Amino acid sequence: MPTSRVQSLRIPFPHCTPPPKALSSLPKEKGNKMLRKLFLTLTLALTLSLTLRAAEGMWIPALLRSLNETDMKAMGLKLSAEDIYSVNKSSLKDAIVLFGGGCTAEVVSTQGLILTNHHCGFSQIQSHSSVEHDYLTDGFWAMTKADELSNPGLTATFIVRIEDVTARVLDGTAGLDPASRAARVAANMQTIKSATEKAEPKHQVDIKPFFYGNEFYMIVTKTFRDVRLVGAPPGGVGKFGGDTDNWMWPRHTGDFSVFRIYANGDNEPADYSADNKPYVPGYSLPVSVKGTQPGDFTMVYGFPGQTQQYLHSSAVKFVIGEMNPRAIAMRDKSLALINETMASSDRLRIAYASKQARIANAWKKWIGECKGLERLHAVEMKQAMERKFADLVGKNPELSGVYGNVLQELEGHYAAGKQYLMARSMLVEFFYTGPEALRFASAFAGLADNYPKLVEDGKLADEIRKLKESTTGFYKNYDPMTDQKILAALYPMYIEGLDPALRPDIHAGLSAKYANDWNRYAAEAFSKSVFTDEARLNAFLDKFSKKSPKVIQNDPIYLLQKSVTAAWKDKAAAQAGAFEAKLQDLMRVYVKGMMTVFNDKKYWPDANSTLRVAYGKIEGSEPQDGVIYKPYTTMAGVLEKYVPGDREFDLPQRLVDMARNKQYGQYANAKGDLVVAFTASNQTTGGNSGSPVIDGSGNLIGINFDRSWESTMSDIMYDPERCRNIVADIRYILWVIDNYAGAGHLIQEMKIVR
Ligand code: ARG
Ligand code: GLU
Repeated sequence: MPTSRVQSLRIPFPHCTPPPKALSSLPKEKGNKMLRKLFLTLTLALTLSLTLRAAEGMWIPALLRSLNETDMKAMGLKLSAEDIYSVNKSSLKDAIVLFGGGCTAEVVSTQGLILTNHHCGFSQIQSHSSVEHDYLTDGFWAMTKADELSNPGLTATFIVRIEDVTARVLDGTAGLDPASRAARVAANMQTIKSATEKAEPKHQVDIKPFFYGNEFYMIVTKTFRDVRLVGAPPGGVGKFGGDTDNWMWPRHTGDFSVFRIYANGDNEPADYSADNKPYVPGYSLPVSVKGTQPGDFTMVYGFPGQTQQYLHSSAVKFVIGEMNPRAIAMRDKSLALINETMASSDRLRIAYASKQARIANAWKKWIGECKGLERLHAVEMKQAMERKFADLVGKNPELSGVYGNVLQELEGHYAAGKQYLMARSMLVEFFYTGPEALRFASAFAGLADNYPKLVEDGKLADEIRKLKESTTGFYKNYDPMTDQKILAALYPMYIEGLDPALRPDIHAGLSAKYANDWNRYAAEAFSKSVFTDEARLNAFLDKFSKKSPKVIQNDPIYLLQKSVTAAWKDKAAAQAGAFEAKLQDLMRVYVKGMMTVFNDKKYWPDANSTLRVAYGKIEGSEPQDGVIYKPYTTMAGVLEKYVPGDREFDLPQRLVDMARNKQYGQYANAKGDLVVAFTASNQTTGGNSGSPVIDGSGNLIGINFDRSWESTMSDIMYDPERCRNIVADIRYILWVIDNYAGAGHLIQEMKIVR
């Protein structure tokens, strides 16, 4: 593999500083003192990281009995591990739902009623909304089952069982070289999967690697396809605080929505049909309005997407020093331009709202992640741990035979191949998140390249009709001037982020022609392209002829997207795949090594979108010097944040009136206020949105929806002092459903614990 030619960083990074200078380059005296101080912090941190930290971890439910039950009971759990996960009897697991592809939901009634986040149901709520029925702003409530709205494509998946199949998957792999091993593993997995699918035709079967392929689990699932929208709070509840409050505590968002799963006459999955019946679940969670106390046991049961706690120090250095900073810097630019556009008119504010939210969500998370990892000295901590690993391995000939080289190999692997990781990130940032004209133009490749075939098959008119439809949708939420500015700003950052050998072929010519004046380039490309003006594009499509494909092929925006995607496909994709495969193999050995060498610690496998349990307690935190976060927020705080007419902090008038009169009914706390949200020490990540937060007796006490900003490094390194998940309190949710929306019939369905 070519050695890295990633340039030294020339962009000033406001959020993440490049890796700190080597300590040896510090002035001697100061260096010594700092070294000692750092050494002390690291020793402390290392001790911490090697003993079990109560709240850390996302555990496999099938293993709770052997790994966690004692610990959980000591923290306040009153159920048994078997109550939480069982294949022999109904258990909490039967109430946990993978909602669509990436969120969690929970069953709260015997009629298939489920709760998830507002932001998880957002696209469904949006798709049923119109100017006359603005459910995003005003909310939606089905007052009878007949009013519930169907959502084609939306699924609800239950876990039937989780089975350790490690021995069967690894059968016959001993002593094989990595390629033969991978082939054998794949073949074994296919055999097990096919056999199970044949035996259980109603179930879906997936086998996933855990601990980088040291263990394998078979996940057997059942997926329902008729999932209807039952209710959504007004935007002033479900999205209160918007992006300003996103990833932040104190938080005042009622981030919830309500759906219902339907099944056929046999209570089995079926496509939508008016004849379907509400699904009768294996279990539904009781809902507690008793209220909670700081220190109370909490458990989050859901589908966390991805964590990377075992990264090698060179990888962490790369994330903090190169990948995150470049992606953040590019989003800084595009967000500044989009924010300016959104402030310029109401039409553009609406047009860019959801794009802005999408770009800003990861941007804000990465900034927090960088800060958090730097504050933890994550790289130095990893390095200290690696030194200790090398030391212990070195003292034991048997271990050094297996693990003696793995650290150097990992380090060398990153040094040699990180440009491919960067290339992937740059493709995502520029092509998928940057100027939208590029992706839009790429959809015209069929017309450009297959014109004769389309004519021959009589499909030309149909293809043009489809493209015209997508054109209308695209321009509805698009401002060419903004996009042109984004192109001018992001293009040089994209080029700068790429290893010179991985840059698109078009670059040399553009650089010479425009003398690196990217404003001039963008202006010219946008004025000449057929894709950057709706009327021009429609006129072009209306008189599409034999000569037209050439026009597309020579279009400046089309040419740019073509070269950008080709650069990835031809120069980086295969290499990135090989890099990833080798990395997985090295990590498999390394993680096994850690588990062997530091064998006094309990290990949990990184999140991989499978069902997990995280446990901890309700608690606040001390996120910064001089700052204490209390664990609860209330309606009093909602009223304090209220800004009438504001895009993010407006409230429905009726809600304001009810809150001012403290009409909280049975949902009030002891002081007569209404608790809105709380924080707890459960380790969570993306995908845990919508997860039930459950008390020690198994009752639902809230819905997980976010982490505090100071926590976001937990995907790479968890800090028990600061990492807190953010939960919408169930009492606020029930109050909105019952007292505000008047949908008390839904509360009637639930088992309320008082
Ligand atoms: N930060 C939360 C989660 O990743 C919530 C995102 C939706 N909310 C928002 N205001 N954009 O992903
Ligand atoms: N909001 C995230 C989600 O959509 C969960 C918050 C987190 O990343 O912890 O899954």
